[in-house]
Amino acid sequence: MSETTSQSAVATSPEAEIVAALGQRLIVLVGMMGAGKSTIGRRLAARLRLPFMDADSEIEAAAGMTIPEIFELHGEPHFRDGEARVIARLLDSGPAVLATGGGSFMRDETRRRIGDKAVSLWLKADSDIIMRRVKRRADRPLLQTEDPAATINRLLAEREPVYGNADLTIASRDVPHDKIVDESIAALHALLCGGEAQDKPASAAQ
Ligand code: S3P
Repeated sequence: MSETTSQSAVATSPEAEIVAALGQRLIVLVGMMGAGKSTIGRRLAARLRLPFMDADSEIEAAAGMTIPEIFELHGEPHFRDGEARVIARLLDSGPAVLATGGGSFMRDETRRRIGDKAVSLWLKADSDIIMRRVKRRADRPLLQTEDPAATINRLLAEREPVYGNADLTIASRDVPHDKIVDESIAALHALLCGGEAQDKPASAAQ
């Protein structure tokens, strides 16, 4: 091997630098129903080559029933306790990307755990986008009200100040998913690695 090999540039990427900086921490996506946490989370995980986990699916698997069934049979407080327990468990299995249910970040204990074990990213969507996206499906028990749009506005008013405690905020809007993923990668890189990622010379990468 020639001497020049050790002096040549080491190719790094923003993605690799983010994963290195994360260590055992997770990236946790928070925000309202319909903000795209699962869709963007899955793509973000693929880009970072990290496992993807969806808290709602994990809750359903742990309970052996769907979220509407949990609400109907046991009520929201029971769902929230289970949700907090499942998220606490998932936060011990980093590094990974975790999409959380829209109400989970409202619990102090869960927010604190996320702060300890993860970098949080709020996918911020406005009420029109949320309404358009959630009306395609009837699987959100909180929206089975006479006026779902009013319910969304009430939840947004209660929750946005709390979602604002996330480490990062990315606007979720009707643009290609890859654009939101690119913006998320850039924001994560700026937060965790403090700047632009480039091919660095080996000496600078130490
Ligand atoms: C909820 C959001 C849902 C699910 C449950 C309650 C909420 O998850 O956890 O229906 O309180 O906003 P998504 O945000 O993934 O839709």
